[in-house]
Amino acid sequence: MARVLVTEKIAARGLALLSEAGHEVDVREGLSPGELRDAVPGAHALIIRSATKVTAEVLGAAKDLVVVGRAGVGLDNVDVSAATERGVLVVNAPTSNTLSVAEQAMGLILAQARNIPQAHAALVAGRWERSRWEGVELFGKVLGFVGLGRAGSLVAQRALAFGMRVLGFDPFVSADRARALGVELRALEDLFAESDFVTLHVPKTAETVGLVGRELLAKAKPGIRIVNTSRGGVVDEEALAEAEAMCNPMKPEYASWHKRLNGMAGFEVYESMKPVAREYSAEALAIDVTPRRWWKSA
Ligand SMILES: NC(=O)c1ccc[n+]([C@@H]2O[C@H](COP(=O)([O-])OP(=O)(O)OC[C@H]3O[C@@H](n4cnc5c(N)ncnc54)[C@H](O)[C@@H]3O)[C@@H](O)[C@H]2O)c1
Repeated sequence: MARVLVTEKIAARGLALLSEAGHEVDVREGLSPGELRDAVPGAHALIIRSATKVTAEVLGAAKDLVVVGRAGVGLDNVDVSAATERGVLVVNAPTSNTLSVAEQAMGLILAQARNIPQAHAALVAGRWERSRWEGVELFGKVLGFVGLGRAGSLVAQRALAFGMRVLGFDPFVSADRARALGVELRALEDLFAESDFVTLHVPKTAETVGLVGRELLAKAKPGIRIVNTSRGGVVDEEALAEAEAMCNPMKPEYASWHKRLNGMAGFEVYESMKPVAREYSAEALAIDVTPRRWWKSA
């Protein structure tokens, strides 16, 4: 039977299935890269989520490894080419949390439209700011999709039900497929120039890191709102932070920028996983942040 090394939290029922099938399950959460290299020799299977980095070095040490199982969608933490070169199979669970992500994206879009977090923060702080957080309607607004795969398609269905007009940028999606989804394809810059809201649903790859940066933000439609539930790093957060700083009513640049970057962003994925303590205050107006949802929700 196989030795299965599990380096992140997996449901007990899943681990029990492996043990019941006679495999030796070795749960070792929170390993440093060095500890992971020491732990992989002798493992036939490695089960991970998104925190474990399966680098070429780790794979080099994993002499007995047959398969890497990624509990979740993105494979950006696995060097798939190095695994393939070594004959190690990499498998993921491509639909495991798609619906949860799609609903989370809709939640952030609605929060951006209705200023829900800001109004909530004001009220619990004792301020009745009825007109300040009035919000906008989604009906008739343009929602741009960067990435029209599983998650993007589900969000598009929901956005159409809200009466939004839907645009998309995805070089791997055909015009026929886009039409079937009710989406008009656009070049990326045009999509940013025309959209009231943009939602990101791309994998993290060499092409998508920093995809939303200064140049694109500068050409974006005034008042655009951006939601990112895909991967940290797809948005250049430094560029975004600059823009966000310029949205802050306490800053002199605010007057010229608040129209362009009004309600700037709703995030649940970040370049580094713990940025939230940064001064994302309700007063800064621009960014709604939630922690990443790790699990499929019921
Ligand atoms: N927040 C979370 O917990 C969470 C959960 C699941 C997935 N994700 C992330 O969301 C991403 C999308 O998920 P999915 O299930 O829709 O994946 P998917 O593979 O079904 O769709 C990804 C789409 O992105 C497109 N794409 C690839 N490169 C592109 C580029 N350079 N520009 C524009 N489009 C491009 C692909 O053609 C594809 O249609 C995943 O790769 C993962 O990184 C996040």
